[in-house]
Amino acid sequence: MKDQFQREIKYLRISITERCNLKCIYCSPGEGEDCKEEKTRYLTPSEIELVVRSMAKVGISKVRITGGEPLIRNDVCEIIERVASVSGIEDISLTTNGIKLDKMAEGLKKAGLNRLNISLDSLNEERFSYITGGGKLKNTLKGIEKSLELGLQPVKINTVLVKGINDSEIESFIELTKDRPIEVRFIELMPIGKFGEENSDKIIANEQIIKAHPQFIYDGKSNCGQPATYYTIEGYKGKIGFISPMSHKFCTTCNRVRLTYDGLIKPCLGNNGEIDLLDTIQNHPERLDREIRQIIFNKPKGHNFGSDFSSKRNMNTIGG
Ligand code: GTP
Ligand code: 5AD
Repeated sequence: MKDQFQREIKYLRISITERCNLKCIYCSPGEGEDCKEEKTRYLTPSEIELVVRSMAKVGISKVRITGGEPLIRNDVCEIIERVASVSGIEDISLTTNGIKLDKMAEGLKKAGLNRLNISLDSLNEERFSYITGGGKLKNTLKGIEKSLELGLQPVKINTVLVKGINDSEIESFIELTKDRPIEVRFIELMPIGKFGEENSDKIIANEQIIKAHPQFIYDGKSNCGQPATYYTIEGYKGKIGFISPMSHKFCTTCNRVRLTYDGLIKPCLGNNGEIDLLDTIQNHPERLDREIRQIIFNKPKGHNFGSDFSSKRNMNTIGG
């Protein structure tokens, strides 16, 4: 269905947990808070299915599972199976750090997963460990190989560039697209959480990378409503994508809403408004369709980044 600004809302992102097996500098909570500790309340697979059924009735056809790290939940395959069972859902994808992917990819595919986006911010072991708070690069690389092997394509790699930390690796990331059908996407750091808020001077504007590469051939946007703009290099099998929420807002074509692990709907990433649906899901499911219609209709116009916006959530509880 269309929201109040005539945008067709088709895409639901479900953050199934805020917990993560990594602690990335720009995503996880600051000192004193922990994203490894389990909270008391998580939507069950059948509750998630209930919400997806209502969402499908208003035209949601694309679902992405996110976290924290979604592969941490033991029932992630059951969640995917249940989402896949909903008529009208045509595309199920998942965003992961890839650490557990090598062992889990086959099960995810069997459950009905179509494709994967994998976060990878460095190709250097030591730097990867620094950015992720102790993660092992080789585990994520194994996960990427496994996804390609299983044909869970396109495999998209998400790289958040931070000046002085990993911007020296831009060329190495671009080279990943040479021999394999990988889409590497450079993402501008967003002011969500302490690190992003305090480091706005370390944002790399995507335009700068594009200008520095005259060999890039514009490949357009693959799909309306997707945040990335793509380029290719002649003879390369993959693509290079740019997600530019800071330099080029894409709110006018935004097609998404978010469901949190504990049953809240977040209609816009760059806005603190949220609607708690937990009681409706658990005690008044007959009200769900109507409430979801209202929430989608009232989706805000766009991000508040840049004014005096301060996100009340860290990214690990939103899922990007
Ligand atoms: P596909 O295009 O379907 O592959 O997925 P995606 O790019 O929407 O999902 P992914 O989880 O890989 O997100 C990539 C980056 O885009 C992350 O940094 C997200 O935070 C960012 N992103 C996704 N949706 C939005 C949005 O609505 N607003 C903003 N500002 N950023 C978003
Ligand atoms: N700014 C931009 N992207 C972010 N992500 C997490 N936090 C931020 C941030 N502050 C990205 C992750 C992941 C995706 C879901 O969101 O790298 O790939």
